[in-house]
Amino acid sequence: MKNLSKLPRTMASLLEGETDLVACLANASALIFDVVDELNWAGFYLLKDGELVLGPFQGKPACVRLKVGKGVCGTAVAEGKSIVVANVHDFVGHIACDSASLSEMVVPLKKDGKIIGVLDLDSPKVNRFEDIADIIEKTAQEIENCL
Ligand code: SME
Repeated sequence: MKNLSKLPRTMASLLEGETDLVACLANASALIFDVVDELNWAGFYLLKDGELVLGPFQGKPACVRLKVGKGVCGTAVAEGKSIVVANVHDFVGHIACDSASLSEMVVPLKKDGKIIGVLDLDSPKVNRFEDIADIIEKTAQEIENCL
């Protein structure tokens, strides 16, 4: 397993000075997908007219629109907090865009104190995120600086 302690700082330097949302999120998803082992999807959903709409990502094509309050992403937005799911089969209402996904982590992203979308990570391995949740949170904070 790679040591991910440098990921937040690497993210900060990758995004430094760039203010274009799509450019930042595209590179952020690429960096996470490249550096974090055992992921099958890494990307973003952005809130538009009360719905989560697919943003930049790495991985297989995914569900385009998700409802707030539904699935892991929509629940993270409704509850305003990160969710780490050890086994998606145990999360009632989990939305399976890729049947290979077995664990998931979703972090709400805030701009000026308001949630504007989520970072969503999927793994084909059960319980992939518990040990790296803190690092992913810190990495998401660096992404927020670009929003
Ligand atoms: N599993 C998510 C849907 C998005 S895909 O994982 C990319 C959910 O339950 O919200």
